[in-house]
Amino acid sequence: MRETIIDKAMTFAERTFRDDYSGHDFDHTIRVYKMATRLAEAEGANLKIVQLAALLHDVDDAKLSPETCENKDKARKFLRENGVPAEVEEQICTIIGEISFGGTGGVKPRTIEGMCVQDADRLDAMGAIGIGRAFAYGGSHGRAMYDPEIPPRENMSEAEYRKEGSPTLNHFYEKLFRIGAMMNTDEAKKIARIREAYMREFVQRFLDEWEGRDL
Ligand code: ADP
Ligand code: NI
Repeated sequence: MRETIIDKAMTFAERTFRDDYSGHDFDHTIRVYKMATRLAEAEGANLKIVQLAALLHDVDDAKLSPETCENKDKARKFLRENGVPAEVEEQICTIIGEISFGGTGGVKPRTIEGMCVQDADRLDAMGAIGIGRAFAYGGSHGRAMYDPEIPPRENMSEAEYRKEGSPTLNHFYEKLFRIGAMMNTDEAKKIARIREAYMREFVQRFLDEWEGRDL
């Protein structure tokens, strides 16, 4: 059977992340792809645009590829080499530019396709996977899980958000409990409510266990 451009984008993303030191972001990309597809089907959005944007959304990520981040060079090169028309390339790169969270909450995408990809990317920071990712990130950055002496920060700038140091449990208050309210699509709002409740229960239990006061 002929390989579709979606298959090729998957292979391209896999190869891009395999060459990278962090190594694990292909799994994130595939989860975002699956969730974005589900949201796009619920919303009647253009599937091909959503799926390509989901698969390419992190290949020019600022942390992994700072030199190509501004112009999305890797995504553009892939799309051009596969005969994607210039206006579709533009739509996809606009979506990729819109979806990042940063410290300030990012921008609201202009298209339903962008909304599906942004929601899918944000949902992957929530729930059981979100909890796992937060502690994996914290561990790899040498952070404490929790420190009652260091309170969570409010209204951070992008630079403050990226700054090292804050214990992982603070990240729940600084980001993870906030993104549910930022979902664009109805389907994502429903999923976010369940994932947020699960994370809040997790944090409550964590704090109870920290003090040895759980039942
Ligand atoms: P994005 O690229 O979508 O803005 P990030 O790169 O900031 O997301 O985060 C990637 C993953 O790492 C997410 O699951 C996020 O919750 C987690 N993460 C980011 N910053 C922290 C932090 N300070 N502490 C714990 N987890 C974090
Ligand atoms: Ni992402």
